[in-house]
Amino acid sequence: MKSDTLLESGYRVTEAADLSRRNSFHVPARAQWLIEVGDSRLLPEVFGLGAVKRSPLLILGEGSNVLLTRDWPGVVLMPVMRGIRILEDRGDAALVRVEAGENWNDFVHWSLGHGFAGMENLILIPGSAGAAPIQNIGAYGVEVREFIETVEAFDRGAGCSVRLDNADCAFAYRDSLFKREADRFVVTAAELLLPRRRELRLDYAGVREELAAMRIAAPNHVAVADAVMRLRTRKLPNPAEIGNVGSFFKNPVVPSTLANELRRENPALPAWPGDAGQCKLSAAWLVEACGFKGLREGDAGVSERHALVLVNHGTATGEQIRALAQRIVDTVQTRFGIRLEPEPRIV
Ligand code: FAD
Ligand code: EPU
Repeated sequence: MKSDTLLESGYRVTEAADLSRRNSFHVPARAQWLIEVGDSRLLPEVFGLGAVKRSPLLILGEGSNVLLTRDWPGVVLMPVMRGIRILEDRGDAALVRVEAGENWNDFVHWSLGHGFAGMENLILIPGSAGAAPIQNIGAYGVEVREFIETVEAFDRGAGCSVRLDNADCAFAYRDSLFKREADRFVVTAAELLLPRRRELRLDYAGVREELAAMRIAAPNHVAVADAVMRLRTRKLPNPAEIGNVGSFFKNPVVPSTLANELRRENPALPAWPGDAGQCKLSAAWLVEACGFKGLREGDAGVSERHALVLVNHGTATGEQIRALAQRIVDTVQTRFGIRLEPEPRIV
């Protein structure tokens, strides 16, 4: 495959690409080929390249939810197409299209700046807009599935571009069709229905308190965005300063009967009732109860600010972080009988 440093052709190929600055854990890894694609219409051509057909493929956005444990012996494909535009203005709401390579937080700022409501709780989530549907990003009581009308993707199985509506995407807590069938669909754009008015979501623990601390008695969407930014900045380590991918484990969803049993022995364990007799437990609490918060093994560790956030203090490898994660899983399983599942993709 010809190595080329320009994006003139709509895509750029780099051989033996360094990925250490392209993953927010900042662990060392290389890709045999890195292909940045700036125009989704070129995906059929890219997938027709001999090396792409023959090699294993990994799709990468901004790398804020992956743990790279080794070099990638094939092609890493990065969708970098840009653009945000209103497709249809319905007065009370507008259908907005965001290309996969836009930064998610920039999109949230764009939406608030254009007078749309709803994205404020999802502010400051790192990563690309194209990755937002993959795990149905969520924070402070809101998930992106509440807004997504259509996801446009290149289906490698079918060899063509497809449009999936919200129901096709099978969104669930930190899950979707795209996560279950990893690397089958290259998400190229998402279309979201953004309302101009929406009831504020203030029920998530800490939001009202933060607004009160800001002395805001009658908040609007922008004030909620400010409160969420303040909370996130305080609670989560900044990946620019210390490598991390946010929560390393999902909050386990268990039958309420089991949650009640655990809470009889551990009354402080936070639990949130869900649908169909299920209950979501706090993974952070379980990890902290096992003594891992702030622990450090070489440069791999658990944040002292948040027990669910694994961190790279400097020179940890992906394999060292993975080993620590495994020790946490085993310890929580032995003590509480709950098997934590990783949230990021482990490569
Ligand atoms: P990557 O890390 O590059 O990729 C993640 C997965 O998506 C991989 O499996 C990859 O193959 C796939 N993928 C990426 N782009 C595409 C595409 N265009 N098409 C197909 N597959 C693709 N997440 C939350 O939900 N809520 C939070 O509150 C939150 N807080 C975070 C806080 C911090 C400090 C950090 C570092 C992460 C946090 N995350 C959170 C996780 C992360 O921000 C999201 O998962 C984000 O959507 C990842 O985007 P990315 O572009 O970095 O994806
Ligand atoms: N807690 C502890 N120890 C800690 C931190 C938290 O015991 O060190 C307990 C506290 O009782 C706290 C509860 O856990 O009340 C919940 O903590 P927090 O509000 O920080 O939320 P979380 O469940 O840990 C989830 C998401 C985050 C998202 C926040 C806010 C998952 C796996 N994580 O974290 O998403 O930002 O809620 O909505 O669902 C991510 O996905 O990467 C991510 C950061």
